[in-house]
Amino acid sequence: MDPSHEIEVLFRAKYPIVYIVSWEERRVEKVLSTVCKTLNRTMHSWTVTQGMVPPVQRPGGGSPPSQSVLPGELEALAQAHEAPEYTVFLLKDFHAYLKDYRVVRVLRDLAVRLRSRAQTIVILSPTLNLPVELEKDVSVLDFPLPAVDELGATLDQAMKAIAGTPGVEDTITPQQREELIQAAQGLTLEEFESVLARSLVERKKLDVEVILYEKEQIIRKSGLLEYYPADSKLADVGGMDLLKQWLDERNASFSDKARAFGLPSPKGILILGVQGCGKSLLAKAVASHWNLPMLRLDVGRIFGSLVGQSEENMRKAIGVSESVAPCVLWADELEKGFGGLGSSGVSDAGTSSRVFATFLTWMQEKTAPVFLIATANDVSQLPPEMLRKGRFDEIFFVDLPDATERAEIWKIHLKKRNRDTKKFDLKALGKESIGFSGAEIEQAVVGGLYKAFAANRDVNQADLISQAHTSVPLSVMMKEDIDHLRAWAGPRTRPASRPAAASPAVKSEAP
Ligand SMILES: Nc1ncnc2c1ncn2[C@@H]1O[C@H](COP(=O)(O)OP(=O)(O)O)[C@@H](O)[C@H]1O
Ligand SMILES: [Mg+2]
Repeated sequence: MDPSHEIEVLFRAKYPIVYIVSWEERRVEKVLSTVCKTLNRTMHSWTVTQGMVPPVQRPGGGSPPSQSVLPGELEALAQAHEAPEYTVFLLKDFHAYLKDYRVVRVLRDLAVRLRSRAQTIVILSPTLNLPVELEKDVSVLDFPLPAVDELGATLDQAMKAIAGTPGVEDTITPQQREELIQAAQGLTLEEFESVLARSLVERKKLDVEVILYEKEQIIRKSGLLEYYPADSKLADVGGMDLLKQWLDERNASFSDKARAFGLPSPKGILILGVQGCGKSLLAKAVASHWNLPMLRLDVGRIFGSLVGQSEENMRKAIGVSESVAPCVLWADELEKGFGGLGSSGVSDAGTSSRVFATFLTWMQEKTAPVFLIATANDVSQLPPEMLRKGRFDEIFFVDLPDATERAEIWKIHLKKRNRDTKKFDLKALGKESIGFSGAEIEQAVVGGLYKAFAANRDVNQADLISQAHTSVPLSVMMKEDIDHLRAWAGPRTRPASRPAAASPAVKSEAP
């Protein structure tokens, strides 16, 4: 989207109030003043510190009284009310005043008046904070972060500025240029400028690493997302052959070649299933399998303490993830954030469902190559809209591993602890651990190691078997829950493991 085009359309169509969400006042002002020039409009900017610049000429010729009896924000609106047509009023940081019912009332009156006039009020703020009363009168515009060509222009400017500086590398190859710009995506122009300056001071050259570090800081500051190191591999996950195959088929799907072939980037998957069976483990492995950076979304944190802020948080998280794209966005235990929307106390139900709606719309419409991988243990907590077609590419169900899969998991965890797996009868271990989840198998391995260590010898088959026999798996205690989950998942989801291998119900396999 080209923001200047969008703004021009809104102005021409006499939208009375436009709310622009952005941190970048300078960039927005520049775009606005270009649009104003095209449309032959006079732009007035207002800030609480400077008042209206330039002041509005009253129809009688005089300037507004210097000692207005009104508070600044209301005076600004009064000036807009009296101003002639062909004007634009840019009100900076005005979101703070939208809590005042008088301001809201005046804006609503103004909206009616401006609908028939070539006159627009623009509210510019880094956060969206719109009272419901104004929702119908205000159009919200998310000002996009700088595009590749804008970043490129800033970079070229910086290169020009340092040309000939002694002790500084003042040339870059076209490839370095491309890498720098790629790394800078997601930064504002000001952030980019400062990080370039910092790189010159610290490294005497423009260094991609410095930019990436800065970006990490920004992501951390947003509080909702964190870069997650890609430290696990698909090979660390036992079983789930169908899910792995699905992922494998999409290995190159984020490449330009796939775009040219006419493929859309995969949207995302939801992995549902029994606790401890490797859902989170698999999610973590996807990013490294595809060689993409991974961001973890803290679902619980989205619902910040301040009402209204949570919606903003969600938008911010979405924006940041798109700026890092192509990437994997991991939302673990989705039900913790979006669950129980209906039952979540009257006071915040409104906020929750708005945040939820923002998220759903994004999932439905997103075109940026952000692969969302969500996990959930409890479907009953998830709102049904989430599961509707079009949100996720697929919903996979991860069941308890069957005997073959369990053998594979024993092997993975023995190997992880540097044991020679040929010394163990893996098949027997798989058979003896009916109803065990992957997590429980891992615990049994660790338990066996403890026992052997205490006895001052290495772990052996008998240790592991005895661990398996002495612990009662969760699936026995939670049999009803699991049966329920299976019954629900059967017709609605795709199995993560080949049906032939899929574990029969605990009961039929149980001794
Ligand atoms: N299928 C599996 N293959 C290998 N290890 C597993 C598997 N399932 C679980 N584990 C082990 O148990 C740990 C916890 O599993 P986790 O992925 O958190 O389960 P879930 O998210 O499904 O509750 C994993 O880190 C891993 O060590
Ligand atoms: Mg998990």
